[in-house]
Amino acid sequence: MSYNLLKGKRGIIFGALDENSIAWKTAERVHEEGGTFVLTNAPVAMRMGQINVLAEKTGSQIIPADATSLEDLENLVSQATEILGGKLDFVLHSIGMSINVRKGRHYTDQNYDWTQKGTDVSAMSFHKTMQTLYKQDAMNEWGSIVALTYMAAQRVFPDYNDMADNKAYLESIARSFGYFFGRDKKVRVNTISQSPTPTTAGSGVKGFDGFIAYAEKMSPLGNATALDCANYTVSLFSDLTKRVTLQNLFHDGGFSNMGVSDAVMSAFVDGIDK
Ligand code: NAI
Repeated sequence: MSYNLLKGKRGIIFGALDENSIAWKTAERVHEEGGTFVLTNAPVAMRMGQINVLAEKTGSQIIPADATSLEDLENLVSQATEILGGKLDFVLHSIGMSINVRKGRHYTDQNYDWTQKGTDVSAMSFHKTMQTLYKQDAMNEWGSIVALTYMAAQRVFPDYNDMADNKAYLESIARSFGYFFGRDKKVRVNTISQSPTPTTAGSGVKGFDGFIAYAEKMSPLGNATALDCANYTVSLFSDLTKRVTLQNLFHDGGFSNMGVSDAVMSAFVDGIDK
C-alpha cells in the first residue's frame, strides 16, 4: 500500500546488493512512496550484485562509491544533488562487513588489520558520509539520515564478533553527529536496530539459522522482516517523524525487552527432559 509519504523527496540509498538486502526493499518502498534517489554501492559489490535491475525498476541512477573513501563520497554527494536537481531529504546507510567474521576468526584472536578494515567500512563510513553531507551543505532542513544496526551493540551475542563493537561505534556516531546536524541544519539522525534478517551480510554470521530461529521464538510479534524494516525507514524519512532524532530505535518484534518467552522456555525444558 502506498501513502505518497515521500512525494517530492530526494535521497541516497547505500547498500542494495541483491533482492534480499534491506536497502533493496527500502529502495522499492521509497519509490512506491514517491521518493526519488541515487543508488550506491562499493564498486566491487556492483560487479557481484544485481543493482542494475533495481535501478531500472525504480528509475534511479547508480553512482559507485567505496564508503571508506572520502573522495568517492564527495563525488557521490555532489553528483547526487546534481542528478536529483537539489538538496537531499533522506540518506540510508545500510553497510556492514567484518573480515574476521567472514574468515571465521574468533573474537579472542582478531587479525587487527581486518578489525580496522571492518570498523572503517561498518562504522566510520557513517561519519565520513555525514561529514561529507554536512560540509557540502547537501541536506534540506528537516531531512532524515538513518543507519542500520544490531542489538549486539548493547548485549552479548558471541558469534557477532567484532561487528558488535562496530555497531556500538556506529550508534555513538549517530548521536554525536546527530547533535551537530540537528543544531546546525535541522536534520535528524537515527539508527534502526533490526531483527536478524536473512541477507548476505546477516547469513555470514556463524550459527545464523539458530540465531534467527531463537529471536523468532523470543519476540512476541516475531522477527521484523526486511520489508518491515523498509516500511519503518520510510516512516523515518517522512514528515511524520520530524522531531525523532539521536535515537537507537529497536525494530525487532519486541525481542529487546524480553527476558524469556514461553516458547523458548518450553523448548529448553523439553531439551533438559530428554
Ligand atoms: P547486505 O549484504 O545485503 O548489505 C550490506 C551492504 O554493504 C552490501 O550491499 C555491501 O556491498 C555493502 N558494503 C560493504 N562494503 C562496502 C563499502 N566499502 N562501501 C560501500 N558499501 C559497502 O546485508 P543487509 O543485512 O541488508 O545489511 C544492511 C545493514 O543492515 C548492515 O549495516 C547490517 O549490519 C544491518 N543489519 C543486518 C541484520 C541482518 O540480520 N541481516 C540485522 C541488523 C542490522
